[in-house]
Amino acid sequence: MTSLELIKSRRSVRTFDARPLEKDDLDALTNYANDCENPYGIKIEWEIKNAAEAKLSSPVIVGESFYIAGKVAPVDGCAEAFGYEFEKILLYALSRGVGSVMIAGTLDRQAFERAFGVREGEIMPCVSPLGYTAEKMSLRETLMRKGTGADRRLPFEEIFFDSSFDAPLKESASGALQGALEAVRLSPSAVNKQPWRVVIQNDRVHFFEKGAKSAKNGFDIHKVDLGIALCHFETAARESGLDVTFERRDPGIDPRDCEYIATYVI
Ligand SMILES: Cc1cc2nc3c(=O)[nH]c(=O)nc-3n(C[C@H](O)[C@H](O)[C@H](O)COP(=O)(O)O)c2cc1C
Repeated sequence: MTSLELIKSRRSVRTFDARPLEKDDLDALTNYANDCENPYGIKIEWEIKNAAEAKLSSPVIVGESFYIAGKVAPVDGCAEAFGYEFEKILLYALSRGVGSVMIAGTLDRQAFERAFGVREGEIMPCVSPLGYTAEKMSLRETLMRKGTGADRRLPFEEIFFDSSFDAPLKESASGALQGALEAVRLSPSAVNKQPWRVVIQNDRVHFFEKGAKSAKNGFDIHKVDLGIALCHFETAARESGLDVTFERRDPGIDPRDCEYIATYVI
């Protein structure tokens, strides 16, 4: 399966079949997470814990056997770096048949922070259960998906723009970027907010966050969403043969109600 196919096939998994992760999967995921990097160059410390042994659970998750969490210093760009790396790890998990869902709200944060040893000067933006997807979703998961409209994504022209926010970009005009932009559009986000907006200007693809709020608990959870979108873009762009490089240089476009995040140069 290509990365774009993997991204098209992914969904949040909240109902697992209770089988513990096989040792091969656990070892591969641990190694992958330890070697994972992000374009911000920010160090993130990942750890996977047995849910029963560490007494970890979430009211919306059923049948999980492990949890993965990451810790990062609350520096500029940390939430985007975290989202980028976490999504990379979770897409790798999916390529091995392991399901997941980032959770930032529906967890006992203090209990997780204690179990993963979050220290002073560190934050743990979100965690994810890991396991094998159950055949049938729990009733709660079905209702949650309905509540957040989890199967819906915004249309292309509401997310992507040509040179400025005045000119929506048509999918038919997106050329070589079509696959990479579709990968951005399909990204998961907290409460399915889909806050990413993208302006394409010559050889530059600028990412913005719509409706950015000031940081709560050291980070803005929707900046994790932006990191996920950056990960999807870079992965799908490279796969379609584009040699993209990352930079943070505000292009000075009128941002309307958006905040500049980062750019990929094609
Ligand atoms: C940063 C982040 C935080 C999230 N927090 C939660 C959460 O606390 N509880 C939950 O059930 N789902 C959570 N989700 C999952 C989203 O609700 C889900 O990704 C979105 O509704 C789209 O559905 P999909 O992932 O199946 O495509 C979170 C997702 C992201 C990216």
